[in-house]
Amino acid sequence: AAAARQKQATLGDVLARAGAAYKAALKRSPRAVEYLKGRGLSGEVARQFGLGYAPEGWRGLASVFPEYDDPLLVESGLVIASEDEEGKRYDRFRDRIMFPIRNVKGEHIGFGGRVLGDEKPKYLNSPETPVFSKGRELYGLFEARTPLREHGYALVTEGYMDVVALAQLGFPNAVATLGTACTAEHVHKLFRFTDSVVFSFDGDAAGRRAARKALDAALPFANDTRSVKFLFLPAEHDPDSFIREFGAEAFSRFVNEATPLSRFLIESAREGCDLGSAEGRAHLSSNARPLWSALPDGALKQQLLAEIAGLVQLDMKALQDLWAASATPRR
Ligand code: UTP
Ligand code: MN
Ligand code: MN
Ligand code: MN
Ligand code: MN
Repeated sequence: AAAARQKQATLGDVLARAGAAYKAALKRSPRAVEYLKGRGLSGEVARQFGLGYAPEGWRGLASVFPEYDDPLLVESGLVIASEDEEGKRYDRFRDRIMFPIRNVKGEHIGFGGRVLGDEKPKYLNSPETPVFSKGRELYGLFEARTPLREHGYALVTEGYMDVVALAQLGFPNAVATLGTACTAEHVHKLFRFTDSVVFSFDGDAAGRRAARKALDAALPFANDTRSVKFLFLPAEHDPDSFIREFGAEAFSRFVNEATPLSRFLIESAREGCDLGSAEGRAHLSSNARPLWSALPDGALKQQLLAEIAGLVQLDMKALQDLWAASATPRR
């Protein structure tokens, strides 16, 4: 354990030094600064999030790390060792805007890097390392931890740019998943900082799919003292583009009108079901069972049972018995 902690400290040091170098390189790159200005970022918010720039060239970090060929740099995810026998080393992040990812203690654990143009992939993230796991970490949580207490809720977005734009325009209580679906670990971590979470999704089909995954992740945590809501932006918008085009007040209205988990659960279960037929109502019942079962016991769960029973046109007791019976494996 002591060795693991030591390693953590060294990986953290390497990542922090790289972060400082990327920050310094941003100041030297008019092109990168112009890119950020072109996206509406203020210098203040760029500093607050420690944004940087990874210069062009294959071994830019060699000027920062005399020990460039040290395996620790590969382990940090900053340097890639090619597969061939020579094992040549080169920088993972080249000619990209750099978003440092910090854990809740403020330690550097990874980076996201965005191209300045339309090249693919648009974003490159640090690989999984001993200190970085995408399914556990939320971008911006370190910066948001105090605002979360003041604002009383967390906004969960899909992207780095969403977090930074929201912070700049009055919503410093935003975090983002790191190019992965929202996991139960993400939700669990967030509820250490707040009792209220508003998931904000892009208004496209991918956003809808992401919302369904977030619902699954959030259900086990939706107890009677917590609030979970789902916000759907108009098609073609994400929080960054929306708030920059329509302003903070318009975004606020979407937050205030976000769909509560109870309603989203019911809507998801009844999707595609014709409630005018017994078959459609039975289908709703079967869709709702796994969602409802994932909820913790409590008043919310009982009320949803009542609501679903009403839609299915069975009494609560009958529905619950039915679900309990269909949950036991057939022999
Ligand atoms: P988006 O494509 O919505 O990114 O992906 P964005 O943040 O709105 O990008 P901008 O506004 O064009 O800069 C959402 C998130 O998915 C991950 C990133 O974390 C991104 O912020 N992603 C996206 C990747 O990891 N790789 C990609 O190539 C694209
Ligand atoms: Mn806990
Ligand atoms: Mn999208
Ligand atoms: Mn987006
Ligand atoms: Mn965007």
